Amino acid sequence: MGKATVNLDTKFRIGTVDDRIFGGFLEHLGRCIYNGVYEPNHQLSDNDGLRSDVREALDDLGVTIARYPGGNFASGYHWENGVGERDQRPTVRELAWQSTETNHFGTNEFVHLCRKLNWQPMLAVNLGTGSPEEARNWVEYCNSVTGTYYSDQRARNGDAEPLRVPIWCLGNEMDGPWQLGHVPVDEYCNRARMAAQMMKVCDPSIELVACGSSAPQMSTFVEWDQRVMQRLGADLADYVSLHRYVGNPGGDSEEYLGTSKEIDQQIESIDAAARTVAAQQNSTRRTYLCFDEWNVWYRARGGEHSDGAGRFAPALLDETYNFEDALVVAMFLLSFIRHADVVKIANIAQLVNVIAPIKTNSDSVLKQSIYYAFQMISSRKGGEALQQSISCDSYSTKSHGEVPYLDSAAIVNGDELKLFAINRNLTEAMDLTIACADRPCTALKDGELLSHSDLKAENTWEKPNEVSSSELGNVAIKDGEVRIELPPQSFAALSLRLG
Ligand code: AHR
Repeated sequence: MGKATVNLDTKFRIGTVDDRIFGGFLEHLGRCIYNGVYEPNHQLSDNDGLRSDVREALDDLGVTIARYPGGNFASGYHWENGVGERDQRPTVRELAWQSTETNHFGTNEFVHLCRKLNWQPMLAVNLGTGSPEEARNWVEYCNSVTGTYYSDQRARNGDAEPLRVPIWCLGNEMDGPWQLGHVPVDEYCNRARMAAQMMKVCDPSIELVACGSSAPQMSTFVEWDQRVMQRLGADLADYVSLHRYVGNPGGDSEEYLGTSKEIDQQIESIDAAARTVAAQQNSTRRTYLCFDEWNVWYRARGGEHSDGAGRFAPALLDETYNFEDALVVAMFLLSFIRHADVVKIANIAQLVNVIAPIKTNSDSVLKQSIYYAFQMISSRKGGEALQQSISCDSYSTKSHGEVPYLDSAAIVNGDELKLFAINRNLTEAMDLTIACADRPCTALKDGELLSHSDLKAENTWEKPNEVSSSELGNVAIKDGEVRIELPPQSFAALSLRLG
């Protein structure tokens, strides 16, 4: 059995773990909205078209904030099409995913859904085919008190009180040639500055997320981000966006489980750019990081998976996740916790049916493997991330160099210590010791384990509980230290009492 030790001291803190790192994403794409969170004709649906089984699964997932309406969809979306009397709203050909869009779900429906599920709403404006003024008008529609053209329109649509949308994204992936209205960086900055200024004049309390580069593999990576932060400054760009989709196309699981090193590196590179810009501008304010699209996504990509061929709510990006994907999803969240001082918002992409933890069919809901990884961490949110001193063995990989067998993160909240640990060793269990220098661990409050002997195991409609969390056993507490036996290829989340 391999050995690992996590040494902690509750005085050595990284920063408060922002609840908003447990965000999600809903895009008008495939079956995410229609036949996902909005299915008005279903027998289980409430007056807002939300099925009770979908609601229950979403409630239990522990999401805190939701980004909408895209994604690529946002860059061709005109928000005015999605408000007002439903039967008056135009049905249009949607250009990002080549689908038919009825606009039956729009701004008011989205904010009502957020309220029902206790999510903060986060809207992405169209800086592709839309204008900065259209973006500003959307802020007025959502956030202004009545007495103006757009806020009165909102009141006529049934919401006299402002919808209060606190976070707005200035476009989506504008560095990507696939994006509608894609432009070189300085042109994006012109549009984004214009929109940001007007949006903040309309509601000075809103926070804005500027488009960062869309992936570390892009030639724009870091340079684009740095330029955007220079041109917008931290007054207009409260956050810069990071996106990352990963996978195991080569079938090398040891490589795949080293992904956390790349996530850490991506965060640290963009953080370095943000610090550089603040230094260049001799500013005490800096731009923070908003990781507003992340997940595993490599199977249902391209071709028929992303071309709606004119259909309404076609099944697109319908990814089925396995157990190793769940370990990687946990790694993303652990990395966000370790970088709690700079990563303030993160959104798993997406929430329902489209590269999602939850799938629906006509009569039930399936929780995918990644659902459990997300939930095990989100259910332990709250507190401050701790620095860790780790000793454990490592293994060599082609693309990530030496990878430690243990991936972990720790949060302290008063008398509670929350510890998350992944054993990447595919064959050996791990004897893990957790020692906190200044305070003894006195009891296990609760612990969960996600493990499976087969990395490729999936939840299916026939076997919906093949991969799911169970109670963590093999935990011993002696002399203030915790010892856990972590099975090979497993993830544990535990809450401990501190003396
Ligand atoms: O989440 C799916 C797509 O991935 C989003 O629409 C886009 O922003 C990204 O490329």
